[in-house]
Amino acid sequence: MSKPISRRDFLKGAGALAAAGALPISMVELAFADPARNFTFAYISDAHIQHIQGSKFVRNWDRGLIRAVAETNLLDPKPDFVVFGGDLAQLGSKPELDHGAEIMSALRYKTYYVMGEHDYYLDLGEYWSKLFGRHYYSFDHKGVHFVVLNSILTYDDWTFRRWPTAEQRMLEMAGLDNPNGSPFMVGDKQREWLKQDLAKVSTGTPLVVLSHSPLQKIYKGWNFWTEDAEQIQALLKPFKKVTVIYGHVHQIQYNQIGNISFHAVMATAWPWPYPSTYAQAEQYLPKLTVPMNRADPFFERDATGWQFINLATGNADIQYNLYNNAVRTVAFNTRTGQPEDRAYQAADKRIPPQSHY
Ligand SMILES: [Fe+2]
Ligand SMILES: [Fe+2]
Repeated sequence: MSKPISRRDFLKGAGALAAAGALPISMVELAFADPARNFTFAYISDAHIQHIQGSKFVRNWDRGLIRAVAETNLLDPKPDFVVFGGDLAQLGSKPELDHGAEIMSALRYKTYYVMGEHDYYLDLGEYWSKLFGRHYYSFDHKGVHFVVLNSILTYDDWTFRRWPTAEQRMLEMAGLDNPNGSPFMVGDKQREWLKQDLAKVSTGTPLVVLSHSPLQKIYKGWNFWTEDAEQIQALLKPFKKVTVIYGHVHQIQYNQIGNISFHAVMATAWPWPYPSTYAQAEQYLPKLTVPMNRADPFFERDATGWQFINLATGNADIQYNLYNNAVRTVAFNTRTGQPEDRAYQAADKRIPPQSHY
């Protein structure tokens, strides 16, 4: 039996990273009753590598990803693998995907990729497939079943018949609040695949689902949304421990729906404001979520960050490390059966988010 990684040792490594000025990486520790099965993986998301022209790319987004890769390579203990959570590119072009893949190639670990809408809607994932493989798949690792979904599909009419060019289709889906966009979905075909895939897994096996969009309905106006979320949740319902980790929203969100814990991760590129603080939309966040407090809008790494996700016997315990801002810890409360912020969950303890209007 190999020596299990203690939480203390693990956090020691994390502390060294934080002191060195760590980057938006999500370190995930899965801890189960049998400590020999514990393992960690890193999570990097939403790099949005953006081509300007020739060999020029938007510097800030490049730097976010380059630093995340460098920090991930320095992690101690070493993660078993890395997940990239989607939106590697900004407009799905070859130069962007190639440049992103080149930066990611410096990683010293096996990396699993999730499809983002910014990667997909130019050529419907064709070039992405050449670089990274399948759009949806599953794998097992040390007793945990992982499922990767392509959750950013939409109605065929929108995808295939609406737009005169692929470039326009990409631009229409790339806008955060563009009314010409279309709701994300996993779709019938992939849901059928998921059903077949899960049929082979015992309901006592911890399940981790990796998607780009939230597999829950948060705010349709910005596509913080998956149209067939309820149908996917129904497929996950028989399992005792389910954790969904998603990118796309570039901000802290967490929720509990029945047996499923939901957690968003930060972007390496930029943070999105919350709809209520920016678009003056009513509050659509899950009631559980205590919003992140923006640091400094003029600081290039503002509200990007990294976090540990510790699944202690299948329940998530997350430490969000935000640059120029207070550390946030969201842990599963076994008494209430939901994730809660250790310091700020109570209404009178919350830090009000800044307004952006
Ligand atoms: Fe994104
Ligand atoms: Fe996205």
